[in-house]
Amino acid sequence: MSVQPLQTSAAPAPHGWEPEIIAFCCNYCAYAAADLAGSKRMQYPTNVRIVHSPCTGKIEMEHILAAFEKGVDGILVAGCLEGGCHFIEGNLRARKRTDHIRETLDQIGLGSGRLKMVNLSAAMAPTFVQSVKEIVETVRSLGPNPLKAATKESAVKP
Ligand code: FES
Repeated sequence: MSVQPLQTSAAPAPHGWEPEIIAFCCNYCAYAAADLAGSKRMQYPTNVRIVHSPCTGKIEMEHILAAFEKGVDGILVAGCLEGGCHFIEGNLRARKRTDHIRETLDQIGLGSGRLKMVNLSAAMAPTFVQSVKEIVETVRSLGPNPLKAATKESAVKP
């Protein structure tokens, strides 16, 4: 089965545009790393919204695809280190899902760079911050999610 690229128009980034990023963090190591970054007053881009998940294994493909359909520019999935998932294999399942979705994002023309997964221990605040900075910069270079404009257009039409 072949995947048809979406009819998206790559509009230039509006002046002052900042990528809108969601970071799905598992409630254990990844959220603890993000929390530690905050406690240590480590600076990272403010255009990242953290969404708690019990485990990255609970983040279904539908959640990620729905966020992109609604116009989110990029998604970071942050879970425990391999072998450290509190639900044993949740992060391994999440890795397979994100790899699969990244392929799909390339096939449909959105770009795999809009989705990234990282594995963290609770002490890896610097890695969390670095991952956030990397995805923000990658998404900034890709430009706004073209589906955002399509979503706004369809909302205006009767
Ligand atoms: Fe952290 Fe599963 S509990 S990835």
